[in-house]
Amino acid sequence: MRLELRDVRYVYAPGTPFEVEALRGVSLVVEPGEVLGIVGGTGSGKSTLVQHMNLLLTPTGGEVLVDGVDATTLKKSELRRRVGLVFQFPESALFAPTVEEDVAFAPRQLGLDEEEVQERVLESLRALEAGELAARSPFALSGGEKRRAAIAGVLAMKPEVLVLDEPTAGLDPATREDLLALILGLRNAGISVVLVSHDLDEVAEVADRVCALQEGRVRAIGTPAEVFYREPAQAPATVRVASLLRESKPEIGAPVRFAETLDALRALQGA
Ligand SMILES: Nc1ncnc2c1ncn2[C@@H]1O[C@H](COP(=O)(O)OP(=O)(O)O)[C@@H](O)[C@H]1O
Ligand SMILES: [Mg+2]
Repeated sequence: MRLELRDVRYVYAPGTPFEVEALRGVSLVVEPGEVLGIVGGTGSGKSTLVQHMNLLLTPTGGEVLVDGVDATTLKKSELRRRVGLVFQFPESALFAPTVEEDVAFAPRQLGLDEEEVQERVLESLRALEAGELAARSPFALSGGEKRRAAIAGVLAMKPEVLVLDEPTAGLDPATREDLLALILGLRNAGISVVLVSHDLDEVAEVADRVCALQEGRVRAIGTPAEVFYREPAQAPATVRVASLLRESKPEIGAPVRFAETLDALRALQGA
């Protein structure tokens, strides 16, 4: 699926003293099978932006297009199945007596037969290394386990675009690594992933393109190298180090990922 936002504006509580212009004309495309990282400071509009991707929020101005078609003309339930949105702190929405029941809830609404539902539940839990949690109560899980169960619930819908709002915030390093590996696995299976994160280092590792938001506007959009080398002061550690070295050693190039940066540094040392 190709998902496009065209000049999207969003105002919270319009006409009241609490009015906030959260998005001030945002245009971007999520291409099929890419990981798009969305970065930006707290309050820059990241969460507001991604809630437009399945029309959980209706734009105050501008439009959302799915494969070129105005998303408001599509059935909401169908749109929400195709664009799966995992909220910030999704674990707060777990509700069923067991993890299995929780993950099964949304796919069951699709009218699939029970065998297919069970298959999807197991497949999604396994993808999140959470198969052993199936029979447990969601309320008795650790923070990282709850997060994985909540993400499995959206994955079980088999979305074409998976939108993750700060999925690694507060996770332990091992769970975080697993989740980043899952994101790359989904991308390799042709699913688009929108990854909202304030952690530039993790975005550098997995994103094909990056969109930097600032005060409800797109400050920069492009490949990680294009976006991060433009303003190295606001870039991941790898880019800050490499851009410093570039002043005297331009042959280091523009590495972004950690492994890429190590290779570039080794090549410099060898030269
Ligand atoms: N439910 C809401 N009601 C009013 N204002 C909101 C609401 N949610 C977010 N905002 C405001 O909209 C702006 C963007 O917020 P948000 O999209 O949550 O940013 P981010 O996810 O980048 O931290 C902020 O100024 C925030 O205070
Ligand atoms: Mg947010």
